[in-house]
Amino acid sequence: MTTTEEIKKGLAGVVVDYTAVSKVNPETNSLLYRGYPVQDLAASKSFEEVALLLWTGELPTQSELTEFTAFERANRALDPRVKAAIDLLPTDCHPMDVGRTAVSVIGANHPEAENSSPEAELLKAKELFAAFPAVVAYDQRRRRGLDVVAPREDLDYSSNFLWMTFGEEAAPEVVDAFRVSMVLYAEHSFNASTFTARVITSTLSDLHSAVTGAIGALKGPLHGGANEAVMHTFTEIGINKDESREDAAKRAKAWMEEALAAKKKVMGFGHRVYKHGDSRVPTMKAALDRMIEHYGRHEMLGLYDGLEAAMDEAKSIKPNLDYPAGPTYHLMGFDTEMFTPIFIAARITGWTSHIFEQRAANALIRPLSAYNGSEQRAL
Ligand code: CMC
Repeated sequence: MTTTEEIKKGLAGVVVDYTAVSKVNPETNSLLYRGYPVQDLAASKSFEEVALLLWTGELPTQSELTEFTAFERANRALDPRVKAAIDLLPTDCHPMDVGRTAVSVIGANHPEAENSSPEAELLKAKELFAAFPAVVAYDQRRRRGLDVVAPREDLDYSSNFLWMTFGEEAAPEVVDAFRVSMVLYAEHSFNASTFTARVITSTLSDLHSAVTGAIGALKGPLHGGANEAVMHTFTEIGINKDESREDAAKRAKAWMEEALAAKKKVMGFGHRVYKHGDSRVPTMKAALDRMIEHYGRHEMLGLYDGLEAAMDEAKSIKPNLDYPAGPTYHLMGFDTEMFTPIFIAARITGWTSHIFEQRAANALIRPLSAYNGSEQRAL
């Protein structure tokens, strides 16, 4: 090492800027969006209202909400140019690659692509919010050999998302659990994908480039990819609908003990910021519990509890949001690989809010490194 400076590997503990979008408080296990506790928003607000709150800093008035709802419903259809690009991609590529490509194509075709005024950026964020669910829905369908389902203007964001994916109206309890997941996934301060979006914005690049880069960061299993990875764990342990909750819990516990003995990292547990539990988990777990009741799948609760208890006993590491979200999406009928693209649909709100904030008070993000390669040498 050629430096006396302390290296902050992974930027752990480094405060790089201010943000007014959200506040994560690991001491009190709390998360505020623009000052409001996320669990209160999840209890009573639509995802559309939360999106407006994140973008503008305030909850919308009734007329603002009506106007945005009409806009969102009018901008949901899958653009034929985006569909054509998706159709060029293999059905066995990762759906995150499809999401990343779709945002890139939307950006490349945008008439105001290079206009980064606050008004143009807010409009682009709203359009992306409205357009992205059709990408996820169509991608799941094409992998099953099915065609596009057109959006329905009489449905809200969450019910329409499920409608476009499954081609049937979801039960109100299912729509509500989905809405809760979207609210909880919307924003989480300077996580890896948001920071990526801010780095890209700091170079004065455009909004769609920043979101495309953020999707790349979200894909990894140490970040958003964990919700998918949780389901792979459940599948590896074995999901047997006829098994009792107790038996499933026993098998899950044994699986976890073996995984930890082999020094494996188990996805869905642990967090860089929260060390005593993720503030979003109780709300998402309650939504999962409702889905377990709705679908009558108590063995899933056994798997959930068994893993959680064994991890707590062995290492006191708590679940993060991805842990209850994964099985919730599974019960709803989403294919496992689609879970992280759903996270994109939610996090577009947080990412774009940070893009606005970065742009409004920009400084190029460009850290230093300590060189530890060979000394200068002659050719
Ligand atoms: N399974 C087993 N051990 C773990 C886990 C885990 N999931 N998480 C942390 N540890 C251990 C780790 O092995 C290390 O132990 P030791 O000190 O003995 O080497 C210690 O806890 C500290 O872990 P770390 O990886 O250095 O801590 P970090 O703050 O860099 O990591 C994390 C945070 C989220 C990357 C990590 O907990 C992890 O890899 N978790 C699994 C992936 C995951 O669920 N990611 C989702 C994150 S939250 C939502 C989101 O962004 O989508």
